[in-house]
Amino acid sequence: MKLLITGSSGLLGLNIALEALSAHEVIGVDRAKLKSPPFQTIQADLLDDDAVDSVLDAARPDWLIHCAALADLEACEADPGLARRLNAEMPSALAKACHERSIRMVQISTDAVFDGMKSGSYTEDDAPVPVSIYARTKVDAEHAVLESNPEAIVARVNFYGWSLSGRRSLAEFFHHNLTNNKSMSGYIDVIFCPMHAAHLGQTLLKMLAKGLHGLYHVVGTQPMSKYQFGVEIARRFKLNDSEISPKSIQSSSLVARRAHNLYLSVNKLSTDLGEPLPSFSAGLDLFYAQFKEGFTQKLKSFTQA
Ligand SMILES: NC(=O)c1ccc[n+]([C@@H]2O[C@H](COP(=O)([O-])OP(=O)(O)OC[C@H]3O[C@@H](n4cnc5c(N)ncnc54)[C@H](OP(=O)(O)O)[C@@H]3O)[C@@H](O)[C@H]2O)c1
Repeated sequence: MKLLITGSSGLLGLNIALEALSAHEVIGVDRAKLKSPPFQTIQADLLDDDAVDSVLDAARPDWLIHCAALADLEACEADPGLARRLNAEMPSALAKACHERSIRMVQISTDAVFDGMKSGSYTEDDAPVPVSIYARTKVDAEHAVLESNPEAIVARVNFYGWSLSGRRSLAEFFHHNLTNNKSMSGYIDVIFCPMHAAHLGQTLLKMLAKGLHGLYHVVGTQPMSKYQFGVEIARRFKLNDSEISPKSIQSSSLVARRAHNLYLSVNKLSTDLGEPLPSFSAGLDLFYAQFKEGFTQKLKSFTQA
């Protein structure tokens, strides 16, 4: 299939692009960060007038995975107008344009659509309660995409992996500080379900191939606190987990409100796919193996001409 990926220089988009390459023709949308990626790119700022139509008409993909966004919660609080344009209006325009062209679209949403007040896991039937500007814009995108393009997939995700900057994911934050013997905190009262970005990419491609549509939770199968996640990374890399101190998010200076419980059930997805999702330990093993095999240097080489 011909697969178009927006945000192909970002943490998720780049990992999906690399994962898809062996079986699909991949075209990324980039704003000039990638100089020599192993896939074709179209340079475009998707907020420019007519960019959505011109990119889709130039690429003519079968599938679109829309990863571009303002994904930094603090940046969304600082510039709500930009957050709305990027996170809500752009996906809405893409969904309509994909519908007109019969392109199957995946809109990447977030686990952060919930306020975290539920005990136990959230299913797709639970109503979102956004508690930040980021979450509000992502919920608005979910509604707009499914309204104008019922064949689309809206995937609520949480993921980690290696990024171009080396600083984008929480896993990289822990790994960087641990390898530099720097002490750091990990939140004990934020529960989430991290999935390796490559496993997320594989899963989304299977969902597209199977013709699934509608709203799905596409996250890891093992809920844990952010502190526990840091400890798991330290142990896998044989680094000193005592550098990580358990801390409450209540004591943080973050502006955007965060939910305490983002445990999302993946039962609907594993039933519809007919197979279990990759385990947390398989994801962590992959994160470790990639590091040992020089994956981070490989990513950096894509930014050199
Ligand atoms: N990271 C997480 O933990 C997390 C968790 C849940 C959900 N999500 C969702 O997952 C998706 C991907 O997140 P991410 O962490 O991979 O984001 P990221 O690393 O911040 O990447 C964002 C991407 O969007 C591109 N972009 C931004 N504005 C653009 C514009 N006007 N035109 C074209 N491209 C533009 C960026 O391009 P440049 O490189 O040129 O800036 C970059 O490639 C987002 O929808 C996010 O909401 C993320």
